[in-house]
Amino acid sequence: MKFFVDTADVEEIKGLLETGLLDGVTTNPSLIAKSGRNILDVLAEICELVPGPVSGEVTATDAATMIKEGEKLATIAPNLVVKLPLTFDGIKACYALTSKGIKTNVTLCFSANQALLAAKAGATYISPFVGRLDDIGTNGMDLISDICEIYAMYPDIETEVLVASIRSPLHLQEAAKMGADVATIPPKVIHQVFGHPLTDKGLDAFMKDWASTGQSIL
Ligand code: E4P
Repeated sequence: MKFFVDTADVEEIKGLLETGLLDGVTTNPSLIAKSGRNILDVLAEICELVPGPVSGEVTATDAATMIKEGEKLATIAPNLVVKLPLTFDGIKACYALTSKGIKTNVTLCFSANQALLAAKAGATYISPFVGRLDDIGTNGMDLISDICEIYAMYPDIETEVLVASIRSPLHLQEAAKMGADVATIPPKVIHQVFGHPLTDKGLDAFMKDWASTGQSIL
């Protein structure tokens, strides 16, 4: 399973790259706004830092302008993936950009039928949002299960399931059990995944016992 980080914070990305865990990055207009930086500058810097796919989202809502924006974003770097909303126009733009050999990530997916549309339009990734479904009292992970099951029945579908809107380590674990291709994880959740009280307790005991020996490895 590939791990992407869901952030436009360059310092956070640099720190995570040092773990060797990071396979890519996703951003969205809210994350770009939070970074306080120019979208083209920050995406260029992230694409340079990260060898894997980096999603940058269009901000137009009509297909013609989405395509122009997508073409411009795609000139940033070969690893830039154009993110498009799952609307009629977004799917049109996905089909057009895919036909030009540009990689696409169709976002704001909330149903299995929407995921089918993205796959048929040739999307490189589909981004179903689990946390936002949980927020409205629906089980977001059921959507991941449905999409994985449907995509698996059609071997010609090459679209990868990119689990988005992850809010907890449990979302990640469940997505992995379902065989999702990618999880895009907020930095806070990535750090939570490392933690376990028994790891902390065990390490504390090892350190105390080690100190009592008076030894040093170096
Ligand atoms: C995905 O690509 C989105 O940027 C993101 O996962 C949305 O997450 P949120 O619902 O926590 O904002």
